[in-house]
Amino acid sequence: MISKQEAKRRIEKLRKEIEEHNHNYYVLNSPVVSDFEFDLLLNELQTLEKAYPEFGTEDSPTQKVGSDISREFRQYEHLYPMLSLGNTYSEEELREFNTRIEKTSGTPVEYVCELKFDGASISITYRNGSLFRALTRGDGTRGDDVTRNIMTIKSIPRQITEKRVPGEFIVRGEILMPRAVFNRLNSERVSEGLQPFANPRNAASGTLKLLDPEIVAARDLDCMFYFLLSEELPAETHFENMMKVSSWGFMVPDSIRLCRNTDEVIQYISEWESKRNDLPFDIDGVVVKVNSLELQRRLGFTAKSPRWAISYKYKAEQALTKLLSVSFQVGRTGTVTPVANLEPVLLAGTTVKRASLHNADQIELLDLHLGDMVYVEKGGEIIPKIVGVDHSVRSDENKKIEFISHCPECGTLLVRNEGEANHYCPNYLHCPPQLKGRIEHFISRKAMNIEGLGEETVDLLFSKNLIRNYSDLYDLTVQDLIPLERLGDKSASNIIRSIKSSVEVPYSRVLYALGIRHVGETVAKTIASRFRSVDELMKADEESLISVNEIGPRIASSIISFFSDEDNIKIINRLKSYGVQFSGEDISAAETDILRDLTIVISGVFSKHSREEYKTLIERHGGRNSSSISGSTSFILAGENMGPAKKEKAEKLGIKMVSEEEFLKTIGED
Ligand code: IVH
Repeated sequence: MISKQEAKRRIEKLRKEIEEHNHNYYVLNSPVVSDFEFDLLLNELQTLEKAYPEFGTEDSPTQKVGSDISREFRQYEHLYPMLSLGNTYSEEELREFNTRIEKTSGTPVEYVCELKFDGASISITYRNGSLFRALTRGDGTRGDDVTRNIMTIKSIPRQITEKRVPGEFIVRGEILMPRAVFNRLNSERVSEGLQPFANPRNAASGTLKLLDPEIVAARDLDCMFYFLLSEELPAETHFENMMKVSSWGFMVPDSIRLCRNTDEVIQYISEWESKRNDLPFDIDGVVVKVNSLELQRRLGFTAKSPRWAISYKYKAEQALTKLLSVSFQVGRTGTVTPVANLEPVLLAGTTVKRASLHNADQIELLDLHLGDMVYVEKGGEIIPKIVGVDHSVRSDENKKIEFISHCPECGTLLVRNEGEANHYCPNYLHCPPQLKGRIEHFISRKAMNIEGLGEETVDLLFSKNLIRNYSDLYDLTVQDLIPLERLGDKSASNIIRSIKSSVEVPYSRVLYALGIRHVGETVAKTIASRFRSVDELMKADEESLISVNEIGPRIASSIISFFSDEDNIKIINRLKSYGVQFSGEDISAAETDILRDLTIVISGVFSKHSREEYKTLIERHGGRNSSSISGSTSFILAGENMGPAKKEKAEKLGIKMVSEEEFLKTIGED
């Protein structure tokens, strides 16, 4: 038994910790513990609050649901609150649910079964057939206005063509990121040195909360609809209403099914338990709803959820296996990530050999020992995670896993900054994976876009001592490359040509390419529009950096430390001498109708503005940007090195090609 004083301290500590996890999960979309660990903490708090009611408070995290509300968006009230659903994991409880409902109805009840999509919920209001406003769930009563972002999702109609729709109606659904898109996005993030998203759900809700709708558009989100609300509903059953919603152009998945009784409901659940791995999206269960709206009204709601619906949750698949060893990997930015090597085990259709351990805290939390039997779980993450340890089978000889103190690649003493979860290797200048990683980042598509040079070639060049940092790339010659394995004459000249033409890449992308810690694509753009040249940026102090929207002390200090390093300055001076762009031009905010009704395809490399900036310019002047050439393309904004396939197609269709200069003149920017 603990003392009252200890209980009070523990309660306070747990509340703080849980609030932090809630923030990580709902606001930052980057949970650091698994749901299982989170539930353990919440359980402990609940037990303590029950035992010591004198320490209970109204604002304890045990008394409220987490909220996704963020400051950047305007909030609006939900016309109908967004409630949650009661959960069950058992067939027995499902039958009890049916018994309760039949008590009210007095007759057998029809149900609608739907998949429970694991994404971010959205509520979209339509007025007179047009998309009016989209709100996130928020705290259930008020949500964030993410209309601009929702407008970029192709499968959500902006306008309903069907005439007979209610004057005002609300459709609710789940915003999803298909697993394939999620995998692609995460590998891009990793190659850019960004933290990957934990799962498609976090990626979807993180994307919804982005401030730049263009980035949202590029992420290929989808939306599945499951609820219609209106004062003038077209039908008296949920199923018929959903069929209407589908006919109005919304995605209502074919998996929706009308079930005449509980047996059919259970049949549906077991059918999808095995089929769910074949879906392009993640689901975490099935939602069972009373079909008749009249009966729904009679059943009503509890404070948190409707009495006429329940969700049957599938248990996350787990496997028990042995922890063989822990490896420590050093990433491009020097972050050290522990990875568990496991005895191979079958889990949800694939063999698992490795599991993520996140960071030192996670190892500590699990109290991990070598040779432990560990539970691995797949929650849609890139690699599975360890969610628990079977302590009953631990032998005394099993050594506790200690986080390493020195870099496994270069032997430097690792650093962990106050308030940060990760350890990193500070040997920025000489640690090989960091050196290679920075070069790989520099040449990547969204940075300098140097084609033909992949990870393998960089490895070769590095091991042959031909490059040590990215400025060395510009000294390479065809003769340097030819002797390398697998590189022919032609590929060598292509690589050199691509390196040479990369000096045209606009300033904001060059800033991004430098690989300054915490300076991603968006931050680089912001910096480039505020500090018009690298010389200006180098002179900036913390105060002037922080005065820029989106730049906080963490980014500011990283920029300052980058430019206070003499070697970096030398590298930048060398890049300057090769002609790399270190200053940029302003895109004016003028808006006109010059490009009205024109569909424009952007292709090639540009010198005056980045591709993204050209997209913005096209929109500002009333045009539409499209990614593929077709009969309806008005003209192609053609830069250098336009792809041969695109060129051929354009010529075949007789589509005009407009140069960068010509284009800028047209819109009056020159
Ligand atoms: S119906 C009042 N149907 O699950 C009932 N919800 O825990 C409203 N969800 O916030 C929900 N798939 O984001 C419903 N087919 C489905 C669903 C679904 C996923 C989510 C939704 C909601 C949460 C409830």
